[in-house]
Amino acid sequence: MQRNFSTPKEFRIERSLTPQAVACIECHRQETPGIFADWAASRHASSNISCIDCHLAQPNDVDIAKKHEQYYDKPEMPFGERKYFAPIATVVTPKDCSRCHPDEAQQYAKSKHANTLEIIWKIDPWLNDGMNSEIERKSGCYACHGTIVALDENGEINKETWPNVGVGRINLDGSLGSCTSCHTRHRFSTAEARMPEACDQCHLGPDHPQIEIFEESKHGTIYHAYKDEYNFKAAPGTWTAGVDYRAPTCAACHMSGASTVMTTHDVTERLSWELQAPLTVRPSDFAALPADTNWKTERDKMKKICYQCHSNAWTDDHYAMLDKVVNEYNETYFKPAKQMLDELYEKKLLDKTKFFDEHVEVRFYELWHHEGRRARMGTAMMAPDYAWWHGFYELKHHYNQYMEEARHLVETNKKAYEYPDFPAATGNTTKPAVIFGPKK
Ligand code: HEC
Ligand code: HEC
Ligand code: HEC
Ligand code: HEC
Ligand code: HEC
Ligand code: HEC
Ligand code: HEC
Ligand code: HEC
Repeated sequence: MQRNFSTPKEFRIERSLTPQAVACIECHRQETPGIFADWAASRHASSNISCIDCHLAQPNDVDIAKKHEQYYDKPEMPFGERKYFAPIATVVTPKDCSRCHPDEAQQYAKSKHANTLEIIWKIDPWLNDGMNSEIERKSGCYACHGTIVALDENGEINKETWPNVGVGRINLDGSLGSCTSCHTRHRFSTAEARMPEACDQCHLGPDHPQIEIFEESKHGTIYHAYKDEYNFKAAPGTWTAGVDYRAPTCAACHMSGASTVMTTHDVTERLSWELQAPLTVRPSDFAALPADTNWKTERDKMKKICYQCHSNAWTDDHYAMLDKVVNEYNETYFKPAKQMLDELYEKKLLDKTKFFDEHVEVRFYELWHHEGRRARMGTAMMAPDYAWWHGFYELKHHYNQYMEEARHLVETNKKAYEYPDFPAATGNTTKPAVIFGPKK
């Protein structure tokens, strides 16, 4: 256990609240009734955890909401008096939650979710900061991956970096992520996080269509047909296959505990492949953030989830198919395509200084990032249409076109056409010091 995490013994379950704590509730009941209502319906409210327990700022905090002090001089508002004043922070980070939920915070801190900003800088610097502008990234990438929260010259939170609840947000206190990515405030509900909708804001679209895949799978069909009978409200750690749900949701396979497998807030657990990567590798061989796991152990954990509803043979045969698909993708498509790309760079027919400014590069990227992922993920999560029509079918078609174009360059020894007009590209791929330190 990390040292700066206190133990759950320090839960402050008090039957009476301080006047300062009551002030938050009463004034906000009037000023922001939506927030009050959500909190009042939460487990926190019934355990006497109130606004101040999460929002109270410590004297050394850099993110104190200074403007909030004005409300303690507003007699027209409930409790709008100086004597109720307490300094608050708007940002509530995993570190704040860790005071009472140390295990969840610790597991989360080592996950790919928490560390995604580091990962995406290492894997795709051009996508991350070369080919697009700050506003394109802020409205897109950062909403899912997270921003680096910063202060402006007045000590207020920099508007360019806020609001944001991306999974890997870098907070002012140095902690990573935002627990509200799955437990939206102020309900902070376990039931909500168990539903596939908790993941679908980010896990969708051409490059990571997990929700579409789930919808297509029998598991998704059953979820839609029977979800009214699912008991999403079972107490944490007691959500039981067969009893509380007939077929798994995203959380049931990737996070919730079952049989001897413990609940985890590290979504890399239970994975035996890195299916999102260009070349499929084991999670421990994923260079951008090697997992400290053994793939066989993790696969066994996932299989134990399946065994609650399926036979060993059914489950093992499914994995045998997945392994063959990974092999097919790696050997038949990815490796030859990569070899061709390397040859083009070597012969200087492609410009290596930038990515995405030549058609062959874009085509190569989509081979692994779009159709190549769909083929692998569609298979892993039982969606035949994604495995074939959106997957291998398009992979084959685009692979042929890519190879034709690339071979033509080699045969004619002609440089590839470079896009002269590449709007809103910053072309700057300097890695931020906050993540990589000043020297790296
Ligand atoms: C006398 C009224 C009053 C009291 C007492 C009060 N607030 Fe507020 N608070 C407000 C108002 C009004 C806003 C602004 C809402 C808006 O922007 O529409 C606000 C805003 C906030 C914000 C958002 C700040 C931002 O910059 O986005 C947070 C967080 C917050 N309050 C928490 C608290 C907590 C925690 C307490 C108790 C320690 C508390 N408030 C006590 C009236 C009050
Ligand atoms: C369990 C911790 C927790 C409790 C209890 C809590 N909050 Fe929050 N609050 C958060 C988190 C997390 C956020 C999102 C900020 C972030 O992403 O860092 C937030 C955001 C806010 C915001 C700004 C967001 C917006 O939508 O405008 C306000 C205002 C706010 N809280 C007021 C309150 C009030 C009032 C109460 C009590 C009725 C309360 N909070 C209780 C954790 C908490
Ligand atoms: C001061 C202590 C405290 C803080 C800080 C705190 N919690 Fe809690 N939390 C609790 C207690 C107590 C419970 C109720 C446990 C129970 O009922 O078993 C709880 C329950 C929960 C649950 C389960 C709710 C359910 O539906 O079963 C979630 C999720 C949760 N907290 C998330 C958070 C997040 C996210 C934060 C930070 C934004 C946070 N908590 C901050 C004390 C705290
Ligand atoms: C809709 C949410 C969303 C948006 C928008 C988004 N991403 Fe992602 N990104 C994801 C998810 C989810 C994954 C995980 C893919 C998987 O495992 O299948 C991911 C994966 C990645 C990866 C691969 C990481 C790895 O471990 O292989 C990179 C790099 C990346 N994104 C960069 C970006 C950049 C840069 C942008 C904007 C130009 C962006 N993303 C926009 C959600 C998003
Ligand atoms: C990727 C989605 C996701 C994120 C992000 C997330 N959680 Fe959870 N959380 C879940 C799911 C799913 C469960 C339900 C597990 C189960 O079925 O019992 C859960 C359950 C919980 C519980 C109930 C006790 C338990 O462990 O089962 C607490 C407390 C909690 N989360 C706190 C946090 C905190 C603190 C953070 C931020 C560090 C966080 N969560 C971030 C998905 C998430
Ligand atoms: C706010 C956006 C967001 C939400 C919500 C979200 N994720 Fe993710 N998830 C991401 C991003 C971004 C990545 C890519 C991390 C990376 O590799 O850089 C990712 C990666 C993953 C991975 C791959 C981990 C690995 O090691 O390759 C799994 C599994 C996953 N998420 C499961 C879930 C589940 C289950 C939920 C819902 C309970 C969920 N996520 C909710 C953004 C999100
Ligand atoms: C039936 C169980 C099951 C369900 C339901 C499920 N998954 Fe998966 N998921 C898997 C398996 C199995 C794999 C491949 C595991 C491996 O690597 O061995 C996987 C892989 C993934 C990956 C790829 C991680 C990587 O890069 O290698 C992501 C991301 C993911 N799932 C997210 C989700 C999301 C989001 C949902 C819901 C929309 C979901 N899963 C539903 C079982 C499931
Ligand atoms: C909570 C129970 C439950 C869990 C856990 C579960 N499944 Fe299923 N699964 C079902 C049910 C029910 C069906 C539908 C069977 C039918 O078609 O009659 C199903 C169907 C399937 C199918 C058939 C798909 C098709 O298109 O016909 C496969 C393959 C499968 N599951 C694999 C898995 C794997 C692999 C895991 C673990 C990663 C898993 N399941 C976890 C309940 C579950």
